[in-house]
Order: sequence, then structure tokens, then C-alpha cells
Amino acid sequence: MILSKISFINFKNYDQAELEVSPFVNCFLGKNGMGKTNLLDGIYYLSNCKSFFNSVDTQNIKNEEDFFVIQGEFDSHENTENIYCGVKRGKKKIFKKGKKEYEKLSDHIGLINTVLISPMDTNLIYEGSETRRKFIDLIISQYDKVYLQNLIQYNKVLTQRNAYLKSIQQGGKFDELSLQIWDEQLITLGDKIHEQRTNFIQEFQSEFNTIYKTLSGGNEESKLSYKSQLQENSFGDLLKSSLSKERYIGYTTKGIHKDDFVFEIEEKPLKKFGSQGQQKTFLIALKLAQFKHIESKTESKPILLLDDIYDKLDEERISHLMNQICEGIYGQVFITDTNTERLPAYFKQKEYECFSFEVEKGNLLTED
Ligand SMILES: Nc1ncnc2c1ncn2[C@@H]1O[C@H](COP(=O)(O)OP(=O)(O)OP(=O)(O)O)[C@@H](O)[C@H]1O
Ligand SMILES: [Mg+2]
Repeated sequence: MILSKISFINFKNYDQAELEVSPFVNCFLGKNGMGKTNLLDGIYYLSNCKSFFNSVDTQNIKNEEDFFVIQGEFDSHENTENIYCGVKRGKKKIFKKGKKEYEKLSDHIGLINTVLISPMDTNLIYEGSETRRKFIDLIISQYDKVYLQNLIQYNKVLTQRNAYLKSIQQGGKFDELSLQIWDEQLITLGDKIHEQRTNFIQEFQSEFNTIYKTLSGGNEESKLSYKSQLQENSFGDLLKSSLSKERYIGYTTKGIHKDDFVFEIEEKPLKKFGSQGQQKTFLIALKLAQFKHIESKTESKPILLLDDIYDKLDEERISHLMNQICEGIYGQVFITDTNTERLPAYFKQKEYECFSFEVEKGNLLTED
């Protein structure tokens, strides 16, 4: 899918803005705090039904306003889709394709895929396992609807099982049969998700390794692996052996909601032993592997959103990435930069189509 038009009303620091964008490169240029990243986040919203930066929808409404609307027009080989996202204080979020509102937001995931490279990616290294699980879950969900449905269902059953354990902890009567009902569902779904994550990581690892080697010049060993309690024991056995403890603490301690994805460099944890440069390279390789993986699974290029890459990469790596962009490897690209000249000058010299938008306090100025 290619974005052709996008408009905003009351989104973050924008009153109103409308952009007609290029199917090739688009640059959002301007000083700090002007609203460049907000534009990328608007595109991310239409793809993922939520903000990358602020998960509380209403906090993305412009201060003192009551609602925001983002609308986008996307083209594929076959057709044009109009996507609408509306958030109003105190109301349910509305997401529409054409005139029809989605019953479930998850039905929209996978229609418009994006890959965002942002300074916030360091969270993947520094935060807990949940951040890494969410990242991997999003990649798989972008091409596998069954995976996303299994995951949503697993989380529902887990919530119910936890509520039951909590009631036992607080003195409720323990009934083994009730727990068995939750366990059977949890095991069926958990086993499927575990298998899907195992299959995913096998393919993804080799895509990641190839990209990491190219970016690092090939002289560093990096490793990405999947860690799950289900690798050592069956899910059923895990639940059985932890039951007495879980009745006491009131929640489920075993399952795929405890999985993690391990990042290593030279066989040591990236978080502790990776240099800043190595960490940045690792993160970029992860995101570019995400791009490659989704492209190979869907036979269509995701939209690439590059936020502040000059902050993240050295000159040589930027120039490598820019060359690849000009070869069309990444399809439609959106890039932010605080320097208003270098990107337009670069693409002009390469004779590659680039639309530039100067951003000043939530106002847009188009340049040719
Ligand atoms: N709900 C909101 N209402 C009004 N303004 C908001 C809202 N959410 C964010 N902003 C404002 O948007 C501005 C930042 O926009 P953004 O992050 O897009 O800047 P930027 O151009 O990417 O800057 P930088 O170059 O520093 O990354 C901030 O000043 C922030 O206060
Ligand atoms: Mg920014």
C-alpha cells in the first residue's frame, strides 16, 4: 500500500493539516519540537490503530480540544482505500475503511504495514520482556491474522484464569474442574503461539544476521534468540507444578506471556556489553529485518518511517541506507530531519523523487 494523501484535525500539535505525498521519498523538515515526528506517528496510527509514542488515545488530541481525526488515502495495485481514525473524549475510538466501521480494530491490522525506525527503539534493549514480545507480536500480526486472533484469545483466557486464582487467594472455594477449563484453553492457544514464534524466529534470525553483517562490516557476532518456559517443559506440566504457588499468589506465572527474545553480541548481553554504536546497529538491523520479513511474507513493501536517523547512524551507514532507498529497495519512505537542506539536496543530486515539507509549529509548508 502506498499513501497518497493524509489529513489531520486536532492531532497533537496540528490544528489542521493536509498533505499530498510522494510514492517515493517524503521529508519532514524543521527545528526541534515543530511536529515532524507527530506526522510519522499519524501515519503509524492509520497502520496500527494506535500511536507508537503515546498509548493513551485521548492524549494525542490537541490540548484543549475534544477530538482528533486522521484520514488517509492509500493505493495498491488493485484499489484505493480510505482509512479514517477518529478519537473523541469519552467515546469509543472509531476506525473506518471506506464508509464501513471496523467491528474489531484487529481486523485492520495487516492492511497497511509500516516499519518505524525511531530513537525510542532503545526501549527494545532497556525495557522488560513485554516490549520485545510486543515488537515480535506486531511483526507476526502484520502478515498472520490467525496469530493475532490466538494472541488476543490467549490474553482473554489468561485474564479470566488470573481472576479465578485471585478469588481463590482471597479465600474463595477452589474447584479443580473450573481451573481445568481455563487450563485446557490456555494450553491449546499457548502451544500454537509458541510454535508460531519458534517458526518465526528461525526465518527472522537469518534475515537479521545478513543485514547485521552488512551494516557492521561482517566482523562482529550478533545473536537473536527466543527464550520460552515451554522449551524445557510442556505447558500442561508447567501449570500443574506451579499450581500450589499460584493459588497462594493469585496469578499465572507460567506460559508464553513470560517469553522473551534475547539480544547478544559476541555471546554477551547486548544491554550490558554492547557499545552505543553496536546497540544502534543491532536495532537498525532488527527494523530492516522486520521490513524484509514482512515484504517476503506479504509480497508487498511496508511503508518505511525513519525518525531522526542522523542521530542514530554514522555517515557511512546513512549513505549505505540512502543508496538503498534510491535503488527503490524500501519503496515509499518518510524521513524527518532538523537540517532543512541536506536531504532534499541529496535526493536532487541522485535525481530521485523527493517531496519536502517544512514543519513549523504544527504548520506545513510544501516545497518542490
Ligand atoms: N496532545 C498534544 N497537544 C498539543 N501539542 C502536543 C500534543 N502532543 C504533543 N504535542 C507537541 O508536539 C510537539 C512535538 O512534536 P514532535 O515530536 O513531532 O517534534 P519534532 O519536530 O519531531 O521535534 P524533534 O526534532 O525534537 O524530534 C511538542 O512540542 C509537543 O508538546
Ligand atoms: Mg522528532
